[in-house]
Amino acid sequence: MDPTTDGTGAAPLRSQQWFGDTGRNGFIHRSWMRNQGFADDVFDGRPVVGIASTWSELTPCNAHLQEVAAAVKRGVWEAGGFPLEFPAMSLGEPLMRPTTMLYRNLLAMELEELLRANPLDGVVLLAGCDKTTPGTLMAAASVDLPTLMITGGPMLNGKFQGRDIGSGTDVWRFSEERRAGRMSATDYSMAESCMSRSRGHCMTMGTASTMACVTEALGVQLPGTAAIPAVDSRRYAAAQVGGRRIVAMINEDQRLSTVLTREAFVNAIRVNAAIGGSTNAVVHLLAIAGRIGVELSLADFDTLTSEIPLLVDLMPSGRFLMEDFAYAGGVPVVMKELSDHLNLDHVTVSGRSVRDNIADAQCWNREVIGTVEEPIQPAGSGTVVLFGSLAPRGAVLKVSAASPELLSHVGTALVFDTIEEYVVASEDPDLDVTADTVLVVRNAGPKGYPGFPEVGNVPIPKRLLEQGVLDMVRISDARMSGTGYGTCVLHVAPEAAVGGPLGLIRTGDLVRLDVPNRRLDLLVDEPEVAARRAAWVPPGRSTDRGWARLYVEHVQQADQGVDLDFLTGSSGSTIPRHSH
Ligand code: FES
Ligand code: MG
Repeated sequence: MDPTTDGTGAAPLRSQQWFGDTGRNGFIHRSWMRNQGFADDVFDGRPVVGIASTWSELTPCNAHLQEVAAAVKRGVWEAGGFPLEFPAMSLGEPLMRPTTMLYRNLLAMELEELLRANPLDGVVLLAGCDKTTPGTLMAAASVDLPTLMITGGPMLNGKFQGRDIGSGTDVWRFSEERRAGRMSATDYSMAESCMSRSRGHCMTMGTASTMACVTEALGVQLPGTAAIPAVDSRRYAAAQVGGRRIVAMINEDQRLSTVLTREAFVNAIRVNAAIGGSTNAVVHLLAIAGRIGVELSLADFDTLTSEIPLLVDLMPSGRFLMEDFAYAGGVPVVMKELSDHLNLDHVTVSGRSVRDNIADAQCWNREVIGTVEEPIQPAGSGTVVLFGSLAPRGAVLKVSAASPELLSHVGTALVFDTIEEYVVASEDPDLDVTADTVLVVRNAGPKGYPGFPEVGNVPIPKRLLEQGVLDMVRISDARMSGTGYGTCVLHVAPEAAVGGPLGLIRTGDLVRLDVPNRRLDLLVDEPEVAARRAAWVPPGRSTDRGWARLYVEHVQQADQGVDLDFLTGSSGSTIPRHSH
């Protein structure tokens, strides 16, 4: 049979360029695959579904994804497709140094090439830990096959001494308590074993849960699935349905670009504000938009959310955890609450509109998910975007995780060139610092570190901790863990290492943070700043080979999503030339 047609007039599937070939190449493509024991007819022109799994034992949050993949395969077979699971680079937050963010783009580059080079007609992305979700989605966006995301689900709530404790958030809290001498070594070590009790990703509204909810809000994850715990049988049922659905999406030619529209991003940004999502979502959504070709700016994250209140009471901003959120009804309830602010006609991977997806959503716990009339916090408490002389291309701050009394603050800067210098100084009992000091840590941006680590919620100086100070203004060109909290100005752009004003600030300078007016300013006269700029010497490069070199030479600033400049955009799914 001519592999370019199936005789029905429908466009032939991409995979038939491999498996439908009647000559020598087709022999090769099929024969070696047969060693896995597939029945003869799997090559008959049915949709071939790639299951891109970021499973790894080095990524504990994703260590169960092979089980999720097994459930997806059931659905694919059932719907008449041919599933093929394969590994994509896995990035685990708890172990990788200097930061997984250095490698998000490498995962995206690797998976993009795998998707294009193989006989795939559509793909199911399996991810969970922070960078695996955006990294796989960026890859898929640059190929634009029918694409469906299934995240691995959160861990069960941590349980410690009779109360719930949350991934990350309580680590920051306990370690400060420990440094202040208010928590014993025994309790500290007991908390360690009580926090991570099951398979799954962080169960606070950190970056992993945020990105899971955001992918549901974008419409690339099935409605109601983001919050289901990793160990809940309903996650595997949802994965089976996802397997069926990807086959239908291929048959309908529902490509990722038809789902990831500007409307989808607007929905996701608004949902992110309502759930109290991670500041990291800003960087990841900008990068995904850059891949799929949707216009999105840093300022959009503020202007699009000016009317969106905080509806979800989850740590780090609030009290509860993802398990509670799931049982309360999850993302569909939030989207139903936000109906007046969302694009309800947007068609998602379910094959239905947002309106249809959320029609039956019901809230089962109003303590966990508030209403627009009675929100957890008023509009404007999500991630705001600041501009000013200290951040000409912007910076972000998560209001719900900050202290209200510090949102308008003028203080004297105490500046550190590296996080390591600060960590040493922060233990100094004689450090010249007060609760009004503005802590500045620089050279922790995309190029400067390199890799843009989560060091922006720097620990409070021990001297102040012992006085009972729990928060102060901190400014950096770094990120902060989505599970972190505090009055932390993050993602300052341009970063210090490329000559941004953050590189020119000196200890003793006055800094003004003015969140109501969305400003971040260095209160130093312009001639003095100009003189410092003229004398500024760029920091030396820390590496001259390998991935880090490629990264530093091409990485973009935080306001653009921190992708590599040559990876933005799409190359589509054009079939490459033959290998033999
Ligand atoms: Fe993997 Fe938090 S460490 S999700
Ligand atoms: Mg993280």
